[in-house]
Amino acid sequence: MESLQETQPMISVRGGFLKSFEHHVAVIRALGFQTQIKIFHSVSSGKSFLMPLTILLENVRGDEVQISHQGGTLCNVIRSQTSMMFDVYGADIQKIHVVYPYQREEFDFVFFGDVHGVFNNLEQIIQTTNTLDPLFVMANGDMTHSGRLEDYHNLLDIIGQSEVPFFTSIGNHDRRVLGGRAAYRNLLAPMYYSFSVNNTTCIVLDSSRKRGLQRFQYKWLERELQLAKHQRILVFLHRPPICPKYNYLAFSSTPNARRFMTLMERHQVEMVFGSHIHVFTEFQKSNVRYVVTGGGGGALWQPANVYHYLHVFVKKDGVEVRIIPLPTPEAKMSQRLKDVIKFNLEYHLTRNKHFKQVALLGTTLLLSRNILRRESRLRPGK
Ligand SMILES: [Fe+2]
Repeated sequence: MESLQETQPMISVRGGFLKSFEHHVAVIRALGFQTQIKIFHSVSSGKSFLMPLTILLENVRGDEVQISHQGGTLCNVIRSQTSMMFDVYGADIQKIHVVYPYQREEFDFVFFGDVHGVFNNLEQIIQTTNTLDPLFVMANGDMTHSGRLEDYHNLLDIIGQSEVPFFTSIGNHDRRVLGGRAAYRNLLAPMYYSFSVNNTTCIVLDSSRKRGLQRFQYKWLERELQLAKHQRILVFLHRPPICPKYNYLAFSSTPNARRFMTLMERHQVEMVFGSHIHVFTEFQKSNVRYVVTGGGGGALWQPANVYHYLHVFVKKDGVEVRIIPLPTPEAKMSQRLKDVIKFNLEYHLTRNKHFKQVALLGTTLLLSRNILRRESRLRPGK
């Protein structure tokens, strides 16, 4: 009789990442339209693995994807609108290829940035997106206000309502607290990755640091751009390298921004999508088109700013951007400033225990000082 005390096989993923792997159940989040899964089973006994390995693949159009398999047996396939699950067993080396058969050159996607934990806006975006049925959604950072684990759980509950693949990039607020970066990486995506839609390559970067991209990320980016040299290229990153109106909010390092823009120009990137600045603005720099959109829900700065998101159409002859406004209360400049302060204070008072304790201590000390001063003034002989 075969023993069921087997070691777990090893799993490698391309076009996604392994979220968890326990008790022979692997959860994989797809990030793109082609996901390759390789399974290796090291067998000291020389026997194939018999205990089925269950794979849950999320963030795919489960009802429509095609699946091919080499080695062993693949069975018990269950599909849903946004995920699929199956069992594999048998051979020590197995390859599984899951593809969304999208043949067209043109496609559309919904794009937004800076939700900042204003999840009623995100819910509205997702509801409309489900009716628009674009190829995918891209949330370009600052989806949470602090990157706390509970923020990510709330976020994932809402992202779960999306009926189309949902991709993300990391923003500075998503890694604000200790562990925010790890939570993002474990739950949503690696720091940077790429995927293709036929002849278009989409490159997603991490510009959550003030200075811009790190040296090793440039190495990765240069290679990706090189690999995509015969393709149309779209680049997504939270903090834009420059912004004519609000440049103090772009990369803080000018050489870093210059390096980035030179690369974009040299590799003829068609469009760079940024966020971080809570406005909508477009500009052209050295033949590259830049769009900045940060109207997902974070406090607006100017009376003219409105909450919004974008519906982007990648067409044969160019990229068309349509702005979809979200309900925005009218306000004067002073009100916008008050909103920014209120938004940050309220957020921390309601969700940050330490901030609440410090605020309470500060208020107590202030009140005590005032009482002591008043009492010393009233004391006889003073
Ligand atoms: Fe933001």
